[in-house]
Amino acid sequence: MDNLILKKAQAEELIRKYGSPLYVYEETILRERCREVRDLLPLKEYHPQYSAKANSNTELLKVIREEGLNVDAMSPGEIVQEMAAGYEKEQIMYCSGNMSEAEMRYVHDHAGLVILDSLSQLDRYGILFPGSEVGLRINPGIGAGHDAKVITGGKTKFGVLREDLKDTDQILNKHSMKLIALHEHVGSLFLDDTVFLKAAEILMETAEQFRDVRILDFGGGLGVPYQGEERLDLKELGRKLTELIGSMEKKSGRNYQIRIEPGRYLSAECSMLIGTVTDLKDSQGVKYLGTDIGFNVLLRPVLYHAHHRIHGYSDDGREQIYTVCGNLCESGDILAENEKMPCMRIGDLIGIENAGAYGYSMSSDYNGRLRPAEVLLSAGKDRLIRRRESLEDLVHQI
Ligand code: LLP
Repeated sequence: MDNLILKKAQAEELIRKYGSPLYVYEETILRERCREVRDLLPLKEYHPQYSAKANSNTELLKVIREEGLNVDAMSPGEIVQEMAAGYEKEQIMYCSGNMSEAEMRYVHDHAGLVILDSLSQLDRYGILFPGSEVGLRINPGIGAGHDAKVITGGKTKFGVLREDLKDTDQILNKHSMKLIALHEHVGSLFLDDTVFLKAAEILMETAEQFRDVRILDFGGGLGVPYQGEERLDLKELGRKLTELIGSMEKKSGRNYQIRIEPGRYLSAECSMLIGTVTDLKDSQGVKYLGTDIGFNVLLRPVLYHAHHRIHGYSDDGREQIYTVCGNLCESGDILAENEKMPCMRIGDLIGIENAGAYGYSMSSDYNGRLRPAEVLLSAGKDRLIRRRESLEDLVHQI
């Protein structure tokens, strides 16, 4: 199955049982995506990681761990979430920017490999932990992604450009450190692998400057179709990447451990977000479909103009064009404009596809709206994997 699409009766049953709105995940699809990523490269030294920022629910992380994937982390908080799912230090790679000293101390103790994002960070890490083995994030100068906000290669705040690497050895020597890994991430959501592959080539070329580098991490960004686009051909990507690695290794006479770290590819398609129609309004020629899915529940449409397919769970055979909106006090709280759906009534449910990646993980309690519950479907059974926030949670501040 490409992505989870719940039937009307199933959505209604789940909402009756767990309330609205609700994130629903399906285990088989999650496992399928894990296996595709795990089987991407037929190399012995290939260690794929899941980028937990896309969704760090403990129960989903446990499934991903069972499937043999390691993880990356962007904050001490993510490390704690990963450890709660059973991940051990050596399976966690840390890769954040603008780290404080306290953060450096924490990740030194809790991550198997720490990637530094700038030469200044490399120097400060060296002062704290001389003699350590570290990684460095490179900016390959090219990027890809579904929105300018998520393109990370090129003119962005991330990584070190190749032309700015000249002081690296001096910093490493000063602190008797070894640079054992180079890392990059071109951006989030590509369905065309050209830039990813070109950047991989650039990273491999860059590695030749550093004698101790033995780990190369090409980042994540593997996209999924949100609106019926053609799927990223993982088999083809795997074939091209294997060929590239083979020829670069042959040329340089070196062998590398290869890592990638997709987030969305694993967690997007196994999920649907279900919500309820709470109001209908005609105003100035627009039919507003009011729902309980504000941007505190799903931020992507508002932040990136991202479009998720929306299902109207209605028995009405007629169609209608709606502007689907949430319940927050901002006029920008719009899930989709000009959405063709069946005629809806108050109390009907809507389902939003591919909500599993960057859905719950970007949710908030803005406006005092509660974060939703999360449910996992496994072998025909449903199980609560995170309770809905409660009103009491909103006032427990100290
Ligand atoms: N590695 C690094 C260093 C990253 O910064 C990211 C994503 C990933 C891996 C995983 O990228 P993925 O495979 O999931 O595309 N909130 C945005 C996406 C932000 C991505 C941030 N970094 C969205 O909802 O589209």
